[in-house]
Amino acid sequence: MKINKNLKVAIVMGSQSDYKTMKIAEKILQKIGIKFETKIISAHRTPKRMYEFARSTETNNIGVIIAGAGGSAHLPGMISSLTSVPVLGVPIESKKLKGLDSLLSIVQMPKGIPVGTLAIGEDGAINAALLAASIIANSNPSIKKKLNNWRLSQTKSVKKKPK
Ligand code: RP5
Repeated sequence: MKINKNLKVAIVMGSQSDYKTMKIAEKILQKIGIKFETKIISAHRTPKRMYEFARSTETNNIGVIIAGAGGSAHLPGMISSLTSVPVLGVPIESKKLKGLDSLLSIVQMPKGIPVGTLAIGEDGAINAALLAASIIANSNPSIKKKLNNWRLSQTKSVKKKPK
């Protein structure tokens, strides 16, 4: 294992309105002790910001990008087209189509530019953070230990009998 303790996660989202879904990803990363940064970046409203962010990920020690987007959710795919850092897409639950639009938009990336797509909404944001932790853990044994402890405590929290 090539150890790199400097890698961090970038959590980006298309709008302030996505933060109520995405903030749970911050909590998970905090619990596991992973460094992260959070930004609002819109592929269509702030394309220059998106470009500059994506092109500077490697020099900024970003090891994984979690990108939340809703509706015609092109942000994760656009970022992935600009960097080879892994991108995890979280489909935000939209008002009119309940996030099915976001899910299909993110998951149906044509071949060549991948986006790892998670579930719609908070479950997706939580799993994106856990998956990001697994990726970072590949080059950081202390994060691996913390992630495994987090999973163990989740297992222990499941009661054998319902109340
Ligand atoms: C997308 O449009 C965002 O990711 C958000 O989910 C959706 C709606 O944005 P707002 O109109 O709430 O800013 O770009």
